[in-house]
Amino acid sequence: MYDFRIEAADKAELYRELIGAADALTAGEPDAIANMANVAALLWEALPDLNWAGFYRNVRDELVLGPFQGRPACIRIPFGKGVCGTAATTLEPQCVADVLAFPGHIACDAASRSELVVPVVLDGALIAVLDLDSPSPDRFDEADVAFCTELVQRLATRLGGVANRSTEG
Ligand code: SME
Repeated sequence: MYDFRIEAADKAELYRELIGAADALTAGEPDAIANMANVAALLWEALPDLNWAGFYRNVRDELVLGPFQGRPACIRIPFGKGVCGTAATTLEPQCVADVLAFPGHIACDAASRSELVVPVVLDGALIAVLDLDSPSPDRFDEADVAFCTELVQRLATRLGGVANRSTEG
């Protein structure tokens, strides 16, 4: 059993503990899907005020639903579509304060009001995107962007293993 108790006084401390726990949970495990599943579960448990946390994987230039916590979600997202597809195309984090005002936002859960999507890049290639949704408007700030970027950069090799790339075809 893994029991990571993350109780932090501030956001920096919270993410420091979260990144440490994610590092420990994925260390030595080559299966990208298993690692994404545990990272999604950790984020879900540690970060307040989320209604969805998980990954979409890059499967032959289309985003395909990966491990997540939250309500069932749309399975396939074309590059360039929605917040996730925009992050996939630009390779830049997308921090959206009001998803209702984002052109082309894909409403998987009508409760979502704000969203943070961070691309996971390994050797210059997109592996996946990390998607966090909140029922509160303006839930994510620059610190969330920076720490989530640090998280996925630190774990990129463990999120881009063979299992991730061989799920289709
Ligand atoms: N809202 C996302 C779609 C994925 S769900 O939020 C889980 C988007 O616009 O890309």
